[in-house]
Amino acid sequence: MKVRKAVIPAAGLGTRFLPATKALAKEMFPIIDKPTIQYIVEEAKKSGIEDILVVTGKGKRPIEDHFDSVPELEQNLEAKGKDELLRLVEETTDINLYFIRQSHPRGLGDAVLMAKDFVGDEPFAVMLGDDIMDDKVPLTKQLINRYEQTHASTLAVMKVPHDEVNKYGVIDPAAQTHPGLYDVKQFVEKPDVDKAPSDLAIIGRYLLTPEIFDMLETQKPGAGNEIQLTDAIDRLNKIQRVFAHEFKGQRYDVGYKFGYLKTSIEFGLAHPEVKADLTAYIKELAAKLK
Ligand code: UTP
Repeated sequence: MKVRKAVIPAAGLGTRFLPATKALAKEMFPIIDKPTIQYIVEEAKKSGIEDILVVTGKGKRPIEDHFDSVPELEQNLEAKGKDELLRLVEETTDINLYFIRQSHPRGLGDAVLMAKDFVGDEPFAVMLGDDIMDDKVPLTKQLINRYEQTHASTLAVMKVPHDEVNKYGVIDPAAQTHPGLYDVKQFVEKPDVDKAPSDLAIIGRYLLTPEIFDMLETQKPGAGNEIQLTDAIDRLNKIQRVFAHEFKGQRYDVGYKFGYLKTSIEFGLAHPEVKADLTAYIKELAAKLK
């Protein structure tokens, strides 16, 4: 079955960015001139996704408004001949977006469960706004390609420094069935560093079969007393195969302050409008810091 749907969970409290996240979803924070969620939506579109459900908590309105048309603005840009800006504004509306509210942030697994009716009986992608991914083939498309070979759930994983594994879901890999595609013995959420089965961490892209909802409906709270998607996936793996696909591209973690700053700088250094000034500024600053 073709993968047509994606879910973007955006209902977390975003405590690492308080107080900014008191009233604003962190998915609306801009990297240069685009909110992070727009990068995710663009990856979904490039991967052939047709319908996206955003699971929101607070701060839903700005997300909805961002992807809606703004006739006054568009007319104004048109009248002034600002065609490039008009194109940028219009391209954000070219996607089928749906919204649902997760009234209590009980965890990522609970947020994904909110998508049960939207997803129905189809395989679907889960895309987290904390991670912006860059590769020749978009990561979600890589997972869809794997699904087309295996018809099984497949998670994106990436090697992370060993002392950071306790921040992630981690896999216990078995054999590679194809280069870069692992059979998995176990999925463990936030293991202690000395007990982690590997350094292959689950990053923010998943391709799941709809049977995940049977697991989520009966999933007990795990790490942090939250309903963990990783725990439900580990149970799914006991009734149908779940694979891990190793991502070799570039991952930008914008879910914490330093990662967000680094991403802003790197994207700025590649942005035609600001890269020259930013390069000069960084050199000047570096000279002062010596
Ligand atoms: P995080 O673990 O990053 O949590 O959630 P968070 O609340 O967003 O951020 P911090 O750690 O407090 O700073 C991973 C993803 O799962 C979503 C978040 O929006 C984020 O995309 N999520 C998490 C939900 O949608 N609902 C939840 O109950 C928890």
